[in-house]
Amino acid sequence: MSGSSPTPPGRTAPTSLSIEGLRVVWPGRDEGADVAALGGVSLTVPAGGAVAVAGESGSGKSTLVACVLGLLDRRRARVEGRVEVFGTDVLRASDRELAALRGRRVGYVGQLFHAAFDPLFTVGSQLAEAHRAHAPAAATDGAVAEALRLAGLDAGPDLLRLRPHEMSGGMLQRAQVAAAILHRPDLLVLDEPTAALDALRRREFATLVAELRARTGAAVLLATHDLGLAARLADRVVVLHRGRVAAAGTAAEVLGSPPDGQARALVEAWRRTAGGGGEAPGGAA
Ligand SMILES: Nc1ncnc2c1ncn2[C@@H]1O[C@H](COP(=O)(O)OP(=O)(O)OP(=O)(O)O)[C@@H](O)[C@H]1O
Ligand SMILES: [Mg+2]
Repeated sequence: MSGSSPTPPGRTAPTSLSIEGLRVVWPGRDEGADVAALGGVSLTVPAGGAVAVAGESGSGKSTLVACVLGLLDRRRARVEGRVEVFGTDVLRASDRELAALRGRRVGYVGQLFHAAFDPLFTVGSQLAEAHRAHAPAAATDGAVAEALRLAGLDAGPDLLRLRPHEMSGGMLQRAQVAAAILHRPDLLVLDEPTAALDALRRREFATLVAELRARTGAAVLLATHDLGLAARLADRVVVLHRGRVAAAGTAAEVLGSPPDGQARALVEAWRRTAGGGGEAPGGAA
C-alpha cells in the first residue's frame, strides 16, 4: 500500500485515527467572544472502519477534519488534545511529515469539487502531476487509469483531455475521488462530500465509497449533516452539538433510537425533511 510509514516495521497500528480530548477555540470575530468549536472530543476510527461525524451547521465537523489533516490554522486557533493518524501526532508533526501523510496515507474529498482542480489544466494532467509528486513517473499512467476506474470513471483518452469546466458535477466529484485514492490511502477523509449532488448522485456516491472500502480496505472518516449518508456509509456515528459529542454508537443505535437531547432533535429534524426521505435509519449499517 503506502510507502514509508511512521509506524515501526513489524508493529501494525491498531487504529487509523485516534482523537483524544480535542479542544479548539477560535478567536472571536470583530472583538466578539471566542468560539469553542470543539469542546473535548474523543473518537477512534479503527483500521478499515468507517465513522461518521454528524451534526448541524457550525457543530465543529470541518474544524475536526482540519485537525485530522493537519491543516488547522495554528496561528489563529488554540488547540489542546491529541490527534494521531497512523501513529503520527498530527498536531505536533512537521510540515514534511504532514505532507507525506496527506499525500500518501490519507486521501481527502471535500465539498468544493471545482476548487479541487485548476481550471487552466486538464484533469488528466493534474492527476498525473499529483501522482508523480509521491511516486515514480513510470507508474503514473497506470496508477491514474486505475484510480479513475476505481472512482467509477472510464479513463479513456478523451476523459483525460477534459478541463474541469467540461465535466459535470458528478464527474468532477469522481475525479476528486480518483485524486484522493491515487496513492491507495489507508484513510479517506470526506467532508460534506455530497452537499452539491442531487439525490441520485448522493446514492451513487454512497455505493462508490462502500465499494472502495471493500476493494482497498481503506478506513473512512465522514463529516456530514446528511444522516442518510451517515447511515449508509458508517459503522459508527458520532453526533456533534456545539463542539461536543451528543451521542455515539452504531449507526442503527444512534439513528434508530437516539438518546434524548440534541441527538434526538437532529434525528427528528432529519426524519421530517426530504433528507430523511424513506431511508431507514441505520438500515445500511
Ligand atoms: N477559521 C475560522 N475562524 C473563526 N471561526 C471559525 C473558523 N472556522 C470555523 N469557525 C467557527 O467554529 C465553529 C465550527 O465551525 P465548523 O466549520 O467546524 O462547523 P461545521 O460543523 O463544519 O459546519 P458546516 O456544516 O456549516 O460546514 C463555528 O462557530 C464557526 O463559525
Ligand atoms: Mg463544515
